[in-house]
Amino acid sequence: DISELFAWEALDSRGTPTVACEVVLAGGGRGTAIVPSGASTGTHEAVELRDGGERYGGRGVSAAVANVVGPLADAVRGRDATGQADIDAAIRWADGTADLSALGANAALAISIANVKAAADAAGEPLYSYVAEAGAEPLLPLPMVNIISGGAHAGRAIDVQDFLVVPVGASSFTEAIDVAWRVRRGTAAVAEERGYNVALVADEGGLAAPLPSNRSALELLAAGIERAGLQLGTDAAIAIDVAATEFYNAEKGRYELASEGRELTSDELVEELRSWCADFPIVSIEDVLAEDDWDNWTTGTSTLAKVQLLGDDLFVTNSARLNRGIETGAANAVLVKPNQVGTLSDACEVVRAAQSARYATVLSARSGETEDSWLADLAVGWRTGQIKVGSTMRSERTAKWNRLLEIEARLGARAGYAGAAALSPNPG
Ligand code: PGA
Ligand code: ZN
Repeated sequence: DISELFAWEALDSRGTPTVACEVVLAGGGRGTAIVPSGASTGTHEAVELRDGGERYGGRGVSAAVANVVGPLADAVRGRDATGQADIDAAIRWADGTADLSALGANAALAISIANVKAAADAAGEPLYSYVAEAGAEPLLPLPMVNIISGGAHAGRAIDVQDFLVVPVGASSFTEAIDVAWRVRRGTAAVAEERGYNVALVADEGGLAAPLPSNRSALELLAAGIERAGLQLGTDAAIAIDVAATEFYNAEKGRYELASEGRELTSDELVEELRSWCADFPIVSIEDVLAEDDWDNWTTGTSTLAKVQLLGDDLFVTNSARLNRGIETGAANAVLVKPNQVGTLSDACEVVRAAQSARYATVLSARSGETEDSWLADLAVGWRTGQIKVGSTMRSERTAKWNRLLEIEARLGARAGYAGAAALSPNPG
């Protein structure tokens, strides 16, 4: 049973306060968790509690920390830590709002994750195996690795937020990370030759070159893959996170590609993406349209049907929004960020709902991350098939890659690897 909760303010990778928490169990077993935080957040996400006022320019989380050790601790103390659904329901009940805005989704997630880690510790099991369904084998995910950044993560030099490599030819997670590393090095070499300062990196460790256009980032990444001696499309393919909500002007109903001085309708933006797909081996497009542009998401999904269409701000790890997407044919894959919804059980439910609808699942870090690596274990245990963590450098990113490398090494021959088959639309 949960006997004690302890919480404190920690810093995330942007130097912004975040909630850290420890859950201690009466019979032995303890778990700590630090929660991440986004920058290009969706409107429909669960709500992070921020203090306002003077401390940390208003970004402090002392009230959320007080909620962990106050009302939330009162709600979960004495409960059986192995009943994760019960713990998460108690957290929701104590908060009383659907978006966890009363006590804070940051406070809620810290307890939820610390609890599952404490329960795994008490059971003497690694977290990935503790969170797995009975009889489910661990599965290492296909990584999507950030190489070039734009948008809200890189001072908006270009509009599209992430240009990532997907090591589709690799036959293990360990090999996939080597491929991603080579692409990073190759892309940096080409960028440097073109006169860019490659020491400048964005929030997730991607290159933050002030490129002239969105398409030029694709050209640079493709050149980087070739410079690495890899076969474009077969060894290494491309994914992008358009994060279109960030440059959608709701009043005009237009998408503003500020870096190119262009304003596009939904149809025109989808056409633009279609032309990129014709010229580059793009296998996944995230947030191709804005978070509430539902009808155009449906038509866009059929226009771009050959690639994975991933909903991040569209679904915000919310079952009701995912179900709406499944019913209307919007997107064919879901990005899962546990802090968008606030509890482990809710995030797990979204993964299961997506899997039964044959939507691919990509577990994702946030742009503001920490040294905590729980995300890696969830990907393996829940068999999400894909993971997105940022670049291959910066410790808050490598914490997750390193945990996955460790799990694959420890499992040895027993390690299953999802590989490119995890991408939607799945031919199998
Ligand atoms: P965020 O970015 O964490 O700033 O929301 C990540 C993403 O958009 O996928
Ligand atoms: Zn995104």
